[in-house]
Amino acid sequence: MDVISVIRTKRDRKELTPAQIDWVIDAYTNGTVADEQMSALAMAILLNGMTRPEIARWTAAMINSGERMDFSSLTRPTADKHSTGGVGDKITLPLAPLVAACGAAVPQLSGRGLGHTGGTLDKLESIPGWRALLSNAEMLDVLNSTGAVICAAGDGLAPADKKLYALRDVTGTVEAVPLIASSIMSKKIAEGTGSLVLDVKAGSGAFMKTEADARELAETMVGLGNDHGVRTVALLTDMATPLGRTAGNALEVRESVEVLAGGGPADVVELTLALAREMLDAAGLRDADPAKALADGSAMDVWRRMIAAQGGDPDADLPVAREQQIVAAASDGVLTRLDAYDVGVAAWRLGAGRARKEDPVQAAAGVELHAKPGDPVKAGQPLLTLHTDTPDRFDYALEALDSAYDIGPAGAEFSARPIVLDRIA
Ligand code: URA
Repeated sequence: MDVISVIRTKRDRKELTPAQIDWVIDAYTNGTVADEQMSALAMAILLNGMTRPEIARWTAAMINSGERMDFSSLTRPTADKHSTGGVGDKITLPLAPLVAACGAAVPQLSGRGLGHTGGTLDKLESIPGWRALLSNAEMLDVLNSTGAVICAAGDGLAPADKKLYALRDVTGTVEAVPLIASSIMSKKIAEGTGSLVLDVKAGSGAFMKTEADARELAETMVGLGNDHGVRTVALLTDMATPLGRTAGNALEVRESVEVLAGGGPADVVELTLALAREMLDAAGLRDADPAKALADGSAMDVWRRMIAAQGGDPDADLPVAREQQIVAAASDGVLTRLDAYDVGVAAWRLGAGRARKEDPVQAAAGVELHAKPGDPVKAGQPLLTLHTDTPDRFDYALEALDSAYDIGPAGAEFSARPIVLDRIA
């Protein structure tokens, strides 16, 4: 086998054979295939696509590049969820303890933010003492004792994806459905969950800007999961506007705790409950009532135990940014649009996100939303509060918000998009 013939096959729009796929994934993981050669192949895949059998084999080869976790010793059924990422998407934080409070085991391997989307681990690290890195044994212990664990994926899980994802990130080859689907699903299948609910986002703040692209990604991932024996369903959800009223690490933890306390923004509560119902259904726990577990404090109890089991202090004060700046409405009327991507870029520029994997993030930086699309606003009323520890970032963040929102005349026709756009099973 030689790598140039593999690259030429895809460059010339032909189907890769199973043997070619197995060989190239293995050879890239062990260093025989160089980064520049894999970049050429990734670009050929982005431009020319892959058939379903090619994607299935590519995913299997990435799973086989590393270890598979085993949760068979658990007495509860396992349920996991994965979001393709968005702005203000803090749903994992209330969702994992909520689903655990309803009787499932939730092993939630999560990532860090890159670019304009936030990462669950960065958010939780704003809680003093909380540790993202656990050994497999520690992960099982937390899962056994609390029902839920949110932690970083170990190096042994799908190492081919780890290497390939880092390469795609710097070669303009992230946005390819076959590569995104195989990347996400190889990690989830190797993780060993029995069931999986995918939150596939569509809109300006998501990887997939259109509903049609998001649907194609969702259908591909649902097919891959079910083919590997993982009961998989996907919700297509809206990411045209930020979720909830915060984008930024500690700000989002605070909002998640409000949801666990029975309050919080309506859209966050609605999506948390919709995903919880899907996870419980997929795990065979059809009689559980997640709305009750939010209202009666049992989800909050699991949250507190889960945070403490990973070294965090659930009662500690969360960091507050040293500086704030308000963006006020210029006129009276109705907020008709607030763009998720622009708000995500502003939060990132304020210090909530990183430009390179190695960069630190500011725990307290981000954007707070005082109005959501459909809300009436008055001239001079605060629309957004920007938070940062480094005020020289304000101007650059404000630039991102130049055309982030529209205010229509009072009484302007406004039809809200639903949060859940479709369900794909
Ligand atoms: N998340 C992943 O894990 N992989 C991708 O390719 C995109 C998002």
